[in-house]
Amino acid sequence: GCMSRLIIVSNRLPMSLQAQEDGSYTLHQNVGGLATAIGPYHRSHKDSLWIGWSGIDPQKYSEKELAGIRQAYRESRCIPIFLSKEELNGYYAGFSNNTLWPLFHDFSHEAVFRQEDWEMYRKVNMRFAQVVEPLIRKGDTIWIQDYHLMLLPKMLRERYPDASIGWFLHVPFPSAEIFRSLPWSREILEGVLGANLIGFHTVDFSASFLASLHRLLPELPVNQDGVVEMPDGHRAAIDAFPIGIDYNLYRRTAHSSLARAMRRGIDEVCGKSPRHRYRTSVTAEGVAANEATASDANWWSHYMKEDIPESTLAKQAASSVGSRSNKVIVSVDRLDYTKGLPERLQAFGRMLDKYPEWVGHVTYYLLATPSREVVESYQRLKAQVDQLVGEINGRYSLLAWTPIHYITRSLSIKPVCGIYTAGDVALVTPLRDGMNLVAKEYLACHDGRDGTLVLSDMCGAADELTDAFIVNPYDIDMVCEALHNALEITPEESKRRNIRMQARLKVRTAANWCTSFLDSLRQVSAPGMTDR
Ligand code: G6P
Repeated sequence: GCMSRLIIVSNRLPMSLQAQEDGSYTLHQNVGGLATAIGPYHRSHKDSLWIGWSGIDPQKYSEKELAGIRQAYRESRCIPIFLSKEELNGYYAGFSNNTLWPLFHDFSHEAVFRQEDWEMYRKVNMRFAQVVEPLIRKGDTIWIQDYHLMLLPKMLRERYPDASIGWFLHVPFPSAEIFRSLPWSREILEGVLGANLIGFHTVDFSASFLASLHRLLPELPVNQDGVVEMPDGHRAAIDAFPIGIDYNLYRRTAHSSLARAMRRGIDEVCGKSPRHRYRTSVTAEGVAANEATASDANWWSHYMKEDIPESTLAKQAASSVGSRSNKVIVSVDRLDYTKGLPERLQAFGRMLDKYPEWVGHVTYYLLATPSREVVESYQRLKAQVDQLVGEINGRYSLLAWTPIHYITRSLSIKPVCGIYTAGDVALVTPLRDGMNLVAKEYLACHDGRDGTLVLSDMCGAADELTDAFIVNPYDIDMVCEALHNALEITPEESKRRNIRMQARLKVRTAANWCTSFLDSLRQVSAPGMTDR
């Protein structure tokens, strides 16, 4: 059909603001999945608009400064919403991230149900509605993103009965049994049903959503295609649209000079390069000078005698002499309890115990960027991960070898690709995840070459990346064995698996996800579809 103007609404804008010394502001592109998926569409369609939270505290700025910030955003056709501390607390930290997030990821025990948070969530959704409403023109398409804005579709529908409204959930949708424990489950469903198209990453999530509809709103007629006939006459279709990545962006970035330098640096640190002494170490900025000696695997036996059986020491001594080549394991996550970091660390520790031939020969680069630090459950997790990394490093370190390189900074796309390219194995083991783009990004950085993915069965990506080593992330022994096998795989076998998965990722890109959702949305909300 004809192209209509797109209005995108998400909690976060795709760009963040940076103040310059002269008092002006510049914007820089965020690297999150959503920003990279819809960003290119937004940039290439010169009339599209994007509305979202600015990420800044308005109390820290004068009226004049806020006007400057608005202006800076306007140049990228972004409209910032400023939220007070109190609003953020109830809507973002509270209801979004302390109620919906844990509940939707099957972490019911972390979910907190607070009336004040719910009320603030409703209030902030209403504020978004008040910003969006005056912008809407006849024929516009409105695309609302994620669990932060589940009431917005209905709010907009009430004002604009004929609007074309889409809503997409970037996280899992839980089973009806879990969802109905939410005291406001019906209001949330009704909120989302204001849309014409309701999208999920997998068919399982859309089936769960339909199951919740049957259970909680049984009076609503749903046809065999999963289309709901709403009392006001509009239709709401439910479907799966698995999100992809910008494959070429990751492939290209993996070849950037920074990513290559990081790979060489990591190879040297891990004793993969032939040189015995190395002078490089890896930092966020790239490569800085440093000096250390390569691992001398004979030393450790003196330090570990106390608690490791002699047979094991003999094995270690034998392996240290050296036919085994050194390997690098990598992982990249937000520090979030859904990512399964403690379980993954346990599996890594268990592997060093069970296969001591890896001691001194495998190094794990663990990039875990702190996230949502105002929420208490995230603070607890950070402490737990800090402690586990410390325990494993303390227990297994040799004088010139540390099993885990633990990085908790936020890195931009180039250094992240540097880490991806250096990894012989990527360990991607979330306990629950809507899609998980890290798995896909890692594969794109290994375009046409080996590099082995160990992937959780509990994320959307597992439906697509079936040639990975698929594991149950709760099963420590299974992850331990898969990790060992992934490290032992031949480059030919690894490459063979990758080529199949990469072929899919090249076609099912982020841009493709974006247009296929919008095409479906325009189809289901076309005038002929609503027989009123
Ligand atoms: C998930 C959500 C996104 C969110 C991102 C980062 O991927 O689906 O909507 O933006 O996490 O979380 P944050 O709370 O920092 O925006």
